[in-house]
Amino acid sequence: MKLELSGVQVSYDGSRILREVSLAVSPGEVVCLMGRNGVGKTTTLRAITGLARVDQGTVRLGDRDLNGLRPEERARAGLGYVPQGRDIFPNLTVGENLRIGAVAQGLRLNGELERVLSLFPVLKQMLGRKGGVLSGGQQQQLAIGRALLTNPRILLLDEPTEGIQPNIIDQIGETIQRLSTHGLAEDGPERVQEINDAIRTLRREGRIGILLVEQYLDFCLEVGDAFYIMDRGSIVASGPIAGLGDEIVRKHLTV
Ligand SMILES: Nc1ncnc2c1ncn2[C@@H]1O[C@H](COP(=O)(O)OP(=O)(O)O)[C@@H](O)[C@H]1O
Ligand SMILES: [Mg+2]
Repeated sequence: MKLELSGVQVSYDGSRILREVSLAVSPGEVVCLMGRNGVGKTTTLRAITGLARVDQGTVRLGDRDLNGLRPEERARAGLGYVPQGRDIFPNLTVGENLRIGAVAQGLRLNGELERVLSLFPVLKQMLGRKGGVLSGGQQQQLAIGRALLTNPRILLLDEPTEGIQPNIIDQIGETIQRLSTHGLAEDGPERVQEINDAIRTLRREGRIGILLVEQYLDFCLEVGDAFYIMDRGSIVASGPIAGLGDEIVRKHLTV
């Protein structure tokens, strides 16, 4: 099922946050939504899920108009959403965390759990552990796994590598911390690799379309098919990922 936004506008407290946002995601496609902080990426995902009210424009999933549907109804219609900051339940086990989304929708799991665990093997070893002891990268895998268990047709991922892919300042800080402490749950140097692999596997399978909000250009270049760039609430550039050239990057993505 194709996700299609057309002319979507969203306002908070009378100020316009999204202006005429139009984009499309097809099954088997990974579409990257990029842009600096505060330009409206998360608001776009919230408009799709029904968490932000759309003033004007349409959000369609397949042949259904989602306007007027509540977030739970949209989830049942086929939207899976992993919000920014991966809110997992720290005191529930990994297994409970995985099941809870599907259970809340009244879905019965058979076989899907195995499939998700094969996508994220590290979770399999940790099924009985508390979610809170996982590293940031493992928690992100858990949050994506939970969304996949609701059997979505479109998966919305809000900055899955945030806080996992360290910037240079974080790297220095972590090195100092590693030298002074031991035994903390920690992501290895290939910390985003599992997420990267999982997205590629889903893409290859071709059933689910993925809308990926992402600030890391390299990650987008590796997993994306197409891009949209936002600036101050509008889509200012879009196209196949191969067309994401230096000029666009310098103009809209660098600080
Ligand atoms: N609940 C809210 N109430 C008022 N303003 C908000 C709210 N959420 C976000 N904003 C504003 O909307 C703009 C877009 O935010 P957001 O969509 O979170 O950006 P991004 O995800 O691209 O960093 C920002 O200027 C932000 O301050
Ligand atoms: Mg955001």
